[in-house]
Amino acid sequence: MVTATAPEQNVKIGPTQLLINNEWVESATGRRFETINPATGEVICDVAEADAPDVDRAVQAARAAFESGEWRTMSASSRGRLLYKLADLIEQNKEELARLESLDNGKPLGESMNGDLPLTIACYRYYAGWADKIEGKTIPINGPYFCYTRHEPVGVVGQIIPWNFPLLMQAWKLAPALAAGNTVILKVAEQTPLTALRVGELILEAGFPPGVVNILPGYGPTAGGAIASHPDINKLAFTGSTEVGHLVMEQAAKTNLKRVTLELGGKSPNIVFADADMDAAIEGVHHGLFFNQGQCCNAGSRVFVEEKCYDEFVAKCVERAKQRTVGDPFDAKTKQGPQVDQAQFDKIMSYIEAGQREGAKMLCGGNRIGDRGFFVEPTVFADVDNSMKIAQEEIFGPVMSIIKFKDIDEAIRLGNTTMYGLAAGVWTKDIAKAHAIAHNVRAGTVWVNCYHVFDAAAPFGGFKQSGIGRELGEYCLENYTEVKTVTVQL
Ligand code: NAI
Ligand code: MG
Repeated sequence: MVTATAPEQNVKIGPTQLLINNEWVESATGRRFETINPATGEVICDVAEADAPDVDRAVQAARAAFESGEWRTMSASSRGRLLYKLADLIEQNKEELARLESLDNGKPLGESMNGDLPLTIACYRYYAGWADKIEGKTIPINGPYFCYTRHEPVGVVGQIIPWNFPLLMQAWKLAPALAAGNTVILKVAEQTPLTALRVGELILEAGFPPGVVNILPGYGPTAGGAIASHPDINKLAFTGSTEVGHLVMEQAAKTNLKRVTLELGGKSPNIVFADADMDAAIEGVHHGLFFNQGQCCNAGSRVFVEEKCYDEFVAKCVERAKQRTVGDPFDAKTKQGPQVDQAQFDKIMSYIEAGQREGAKMLCGGNRIGDRGFFVEPTVFADVDNSMKIAQEEIFGPVMSIIKFKDIDEAIRLGNTTMYGLAAGVWTKDIAKAHAIAHNVRAGTVWVNCYHVFDAAAPFGGFKQSGIGRELGEYCLENYTEVKTVTVQL
């Protein structure tokens, strides 16, 4: 493990105002807030802070764009072309966006460049292709009637995103909503507002009509709450903590029954059988948990290892974690940057204490690195019991919990003993075991001999308290369309 020193980063900061009705504006209150570089704890810049009056103004613009004007009459293929144009513009500015993402979020630049940006671009292109393929059906009902369905946009959509993949979460939200013909108010996370605003500039350059996309940086309870409870927003898409998922759903229910989709937390089991390719499993388990500083809703944060290979596997996992290079996100050697902010850092340290208190065996890590920024040592706990806090609650940091199991039935039973159901992994050469896990684990995604494989075409979302609805793929379009039945007497 090496702590790198910060090289000079040459990062261009884009817009720092609210984007409403295709104009950059200050907030109604005039307030601004600071966004922090998590590698140093220093302020990068300040950004306009949206609150309820700004949400209201954005909703009026989005409503007007939805009800009248260019967007409403635009052909579906022209909407697709705008999304393709946006994807091209993001690609042309790929390096600038990747640097800005790493500065604001702390993720290693190589991962921004080779992960976040390509996936973001692919997502816009994927849904650009869908824009003119959103089709209804003709239905053979009884009697002299012609019956057909139309899949119409839901209307004005409010979207709230987190800070762990700022550009990618923006794409997962905007691309399907726009392809289906909705208009959008997007609230970006207060920790990482900068790249979304730069994309806002590219949205203007692409030529989206006024009011179609409105981007509001701001805090959760204020700007986020105003979106969840706004009476003229027809649909809410939220990604973040399960705790806030409960809140926004309640607000949506109390106001106007806006449709709600939620993509929430996880405590995903990554299950290793003794017959697995051990080197691949060690690497897959390591990547499954530590990727993105452990800040993934789908992190493989409960590692279940079969008794027969447990000791060997644990020893190798610890060796692998010790080799992980933690340091400046702009250093090419860095595999792990800082956690996003002080609050996340403190939360992770409190879970590390809880693990020790509850009697799990901490085999490496456990400490802060350096004296500035929010760096945490890659940490591995073995002999974890599935009932411990570190096995049940989302840590969202570089802390692995390893749990021993005897046989496949126990792996499934323990794997399912959680309020979450987002993802799971299984490592085995036995195809029957692989499918038994895939079919019996209650989770929205199962990876067999791989982990964190994402594609814009493959749906993603949670069972149980990991969420409601699916993002990505064709399935996601259901979130952004209403089905209308038309019956015509012949
Ligand atoms: P959070 O759920 O508070 O924040 C996510 C988004 O929701 C942000 O845009 C935030 O401003 C907004 N928000 C917060 N409170 C709100 C409210 N009352 N009404 C409407 N919007 C609101 O998550 P936070 O505090 O950033 O992280 C806490 C924990 O949540 C993490 O440690 C992690 O366990 C989990 N989390 C899960 C994510 C996922 O991808 N599923 C992403 C981020 C956090
Ligand atoms: Mg919060």
